[in-house]
Amino acid sequence: MEFYSERLNYRYFTEQDFELFRSVFSDEKVMKYAWIDKIDKDDDMALFFNDFLNHGNELNSNSSYAFAVFVRENERFAGFADIVINCRNPNGGCGEIGYFLLPEHWGKGYATELSETLVKTGFTRLGLHKMSARCNSKNLKSESVMKKVGMIKEGELRKVRFKNGSWDDEKHYGILIEDWKCDKQ
Ligand SMILES: CC(C)(COP(=O)(O)OP(=O)(O)OC[C@H]1O[C@@H](n2cnc3c(N)ncnc32)[C@H](O)[C@@H]1OP(=O)(O)O)[C@@H](O)C(=O)NCCC(=O)NCCS
Repeated sequence: MEFYSERLNYRYFTEQDFELFRSVFSDEKVMKYAWIDKIDKDDDMALFFNDFLNHGNELNSNSSYAFAVFVRENERFAGFADIVINCRNPNGGCGEIGYFLLPEHWGKGYATELSETLVKTGFTRLGLHKMSARCNSKNLKSESVMKKVGMIKEGELRKVRFKNGSWDDEKHYGILIEDWKCDKQ
């Protein structure tokens, strides 16, 4: 499956994308606040990559979706984005978005653009009623993206992420479909 937004293209990862995937999850700066540490070993990276390989074209056939993101104007790889569905039934469902851009693509509004696209995809194509995101409480850039896509802070869990030798707090943000629709009018 492929889709696009104003400046970005999105498609599923394929097996040929291993080096692109590695470039994200082995980068010290990218992984500074991630829930896991940067991955150095090939075997570990291969296992991790396999978890994100999506097969098939049907948006409704999987419970999570990982996308390789490219800059439309030059087709350069920008990073990784995903939607994880935590629960879904005919009445709706809850999805969580994630985004990891290579540093050269920071500060251009791409994370906000892709997050808006993922939120819209969750509401309009996946039939979800709530989209959320969470980050290490020190990750102010990520929190800023959540605010910019209209999510509101729902809570903060104390000392749940072990990072760089200490337990960090985690912020939770979310947006409901009715609030999103209001915002679009
Ligand atoms: C978190 C992360 C995705 C945020 O990326 P980002 O580029 O800072 O976020 P945005 O897309 O919102 O871009 C914002 C900046 O682009 C600037 N910008 C430039 N051109 C722009 C445009 N055309 N439209 C919008 N913003 C633009 C904004 O002014 C803003 O700058 P500021 O942060 O100095 O105010 C990025 O830092 C990252 O990938 N980090 C590593 C992985 C990570 O932590 N992921 C989150 C895990 S929870």
